[in-house]
Amino acid sequence: MKLRSAAGAALGLALLLSPVRALEPVSMGLALAGTAAIAGSLFLCSLAGVFVTALQKDFQKRLFGQHLVQKVVVKAVTSFLNNANPKKPLTLSLHGWTGTGKNYVSRIIAENIYKAGLNSKYVHLFVSTLHFPHKSKIEQYMEDLQSWIRGNVSDCAQSMFIFDEVDKMPPGLIDSIKPFLDYYEKLDGVSYQEAIFIFLSNAGAEKITEVALDCWRSGKKREDISLKELNDVVSHSVFNNKNSGFWHSRLIDRNLIDFFVPFLPLEYKHVKMCVRVEMETRGYPVDEDIVSRVADEITYFPEEEKLYSRKGCKTIPNADFD
Ligand SMILES: Nc1ncnc2c1ncn2[C@@H]1O[C@H](COP(=O)(O)OP(=O)(O)OP(=O)(O)O)[C@@H](O)[C@H]1O
Ligand SMILES: [Mg+2]
Repeated sequence: MKLRSAAGAALGLALLLSPVRALEPVSMGLALAGTAAIAGSLFLCSLAGVFVTALQKDFQKRLFGQHLVQKVVVKAVTSFLNNANPKKPLTLSLHGWTGTGKNYVSRIIAENIYKAGLNSKYVHLFVSTLHFPHKSKIEQYMEDLQSWIRGNVSDCAQSMFIFDEVDKMPPGLIDSIKPFLDYYEKLDGVSYQEAIFIFLSNAGAEKITEVALDCWRSGKKREDISLKELNDVVSHSVFNNKNSGFWHSRLIDRNLIDFFVPFLPLEYKHVKMCVRVEMETRGYPVDEDIVSRVADEITYFPEEEKLYSRKGCKTIPNADFD
């Protein structure tokens, strides 16, 4: 990890005076949050409205089988961006089975905020197995992580940090960023209140699946699963699991995670939807025989009901359509 230079207050002032120019054009949503405080203008609010619609539309069109994700993320991100004075950075923790859309959703969020999406220099992705592979180096990682975040937020208050594979982080490492997620106006002259932190993990996936399966077995619709019931299940299970990355984490017991976002396991019909999109994207005519054949190649669980895709839609981008 390379630490970017901390530009400090001068740059912060430049951002306030000329937010749209200082950021990339499509990061206006975030710039708006900053400028709304100064201008309080209706014009800015209406642009933020455009952002909400775009994000919602993107989810409706591109994200399958995740009614809760759609609801929570749109609400969380838009109310954060509409808030001229957030008291803390936005912190989302995305949980669920493999291939259900966690990275995909973080990409959609980034694309709706920054012109270059994940490639924006204001979006930073940490992958535990790549950036934090050795438990013994935890002290070093803590120091690097803190100075990396401090440096980047000094450069741009509206930075986004995505932590992938949180469940593979050395236990305790995540707590090193606690000060940045808390309700401080400034820490050593730097304000973290406009930043966005997104955590991704498979932790809690079994519990989410249990809830989904119970719902299905009792004849209820998937859409009847409530956020509240999953929220409690996920936060308890990751807090009490030694391998979740959040084991006894102060981020949880101090309520610093604003939203737990549960991803439901995907069913056969969702896999087919993914296949259709992938065929269209690659320029193939959508042939229902091929759609079924590709969806049939995936295995489904539990053994008896064969309801949920073991790999979600993860293998679809590499599927063979010939
Ligand atoms: N709910 C979904 N709706 C539409 N497409 C999806 C969905 N879930 C996954 N996909 C497709 O599958 C690909 C892989 O999904 P993604 O990488 O987001 O899974 P993940 O939840 O991060 O899995 P893992 O836990 O293994 O990291 C996506 O790029 C997308 O093409
Ligand atoms: Mg992933």
